Amino acid sequence: MTYDLSEKSHVLVTGVAGFIGFHTATRLLQRGETVVGIDNLNDYYDVALKEARLGQLAKFKSFTFVKQDIADKDGMESLWREYGPFRRVVHLAAQAGVRYSLMNPYAYITSNCMGHVTVMEMCRHTKDFTHLVYASSSSVYGANRKLPFSVKDSVDSPISLYAATKRADELMSQSYAHLYNIPQTGLRFFTVYGPWGRPDMALFIFTKAIVEGKKIEVFNNGEMKRDFTYIDDIVDGVLATLDAPPESGPDAPPHRVLNIGNTRSENLMDFVRIIEKELGKKADVEYKDMQAGDVKETYADVSETSALTGFKPKTPIAEGVPRFIEWYRGYYKV
Ligand SMILES: NC(=O)c1ccc[n+]([C@@H]2O[C@H](COP(=O)([O-])OP(=O)(O)OC[C@H]3O[C@@H](n4cnc5c(N)ncnc54)[C@H](O)[C@@H]3O)[C@@H](O)[C@H]2O)c1
Repeated sequence: MTYDLSEKSHVLVTGVAGFIGFHTATRLLQRGETVVGIDNLNDYYDVALKEARLGQLAKFKSFTFVKQDIADKDGMESLWREYGPFRRVVHLAAQAGVRYSLMNPYAYITSNCMGHVTVMEMCRHTKDFTHLVYASSSSVYGANRKLPFSVKDSVDSPISLYAATKRADELMSQSYAHLYNIPQTGLRFFTVYGPWGRPDMALFIFTKAIVEGKKIEVFNNGEMKRDFTYIDDIVDGVLATLDAPPESGPDAPPHRVLNIGNTRSENLMDFVRIIEKELGKKADVEYKDMQAGDVKETYADVSETSALTGFKPKTPIAEGVPRFIEWYRGYYKV
């Protein structure tokens, strides 16, 4: 579907100071949209990085930032009254990270469950609501052994609380689409990387350690495979999805779940080799056992996503990793 931009209402982006939220808002602004972005700027990782991303967004006149927690019902109602109503929402705020969900489970329930319901409640009470696009995760495939992961596969065996909260979001969205006819799409992102990326993720951690001459820890003795998806491809998928809201059928509520991945499962050690080559420095690798909550391999089947939105990932890791490292060198002056 193509929108006439002049007829568009403004878009709310939650988690706008985060990695994917920042890039999504940037692209929306570049295509001429008005964006209101919210984030609670929590300190799960370096707040200065979140603020630096907001600093980039502040260069756009049609961008407004509001510091707001999505799990705060009263605050969200005030936001809707003051800056809304929002008929299109890209909901990316969440407590991310598989491993941290073993340490601080409550953060996941508050942001990912209460927060998700609060966002849906706002949409429910918005007249002519058009589309809620929200972040799910490839981690919902959990112990699934069939590859590539298809949205038709069973996802009843999460192996981390993070995955369980993301699956809960999908189920809650299905119920709201059924009850209140709210058009929604859940996007299962597969390991996203790129400039302005997250400090708790492998590419960032490995790059930092190699630059600083420290050891890198590689789990499951390096026997890990990931479908690494470059941020620009993710944003292509988010925008294409936002522009193509689902319609309800006689027995089908307007809700669907789609994979967004690069459709290649890469060996983790090949990923490490590209980082080494770019930095011109060997990694000091410490091999470790598998971590609780982690999966050995991810690999996306995006056929439904492509058929519905035209999504087609374009960036191999040999191109994407050097772009991250160029950003890292510039941002941290190394
Ligand atoms: N990056 C990936 O590889 C990946 C993979 C699968 C799914 N996801 C999902 O995509 C979304 C975006 O991920 P990201 O990588 O940009 O993570 P991120 O942590 O960089 O961004 C999330 C942002 O949400 C904000 N936030 C968290 N809880 C909040 C709350 N209660 N209220 C308001 N703001 C809150 C954080 O401050 C942060 O800026 C998340 O939902 C994440 O679970 C990411």
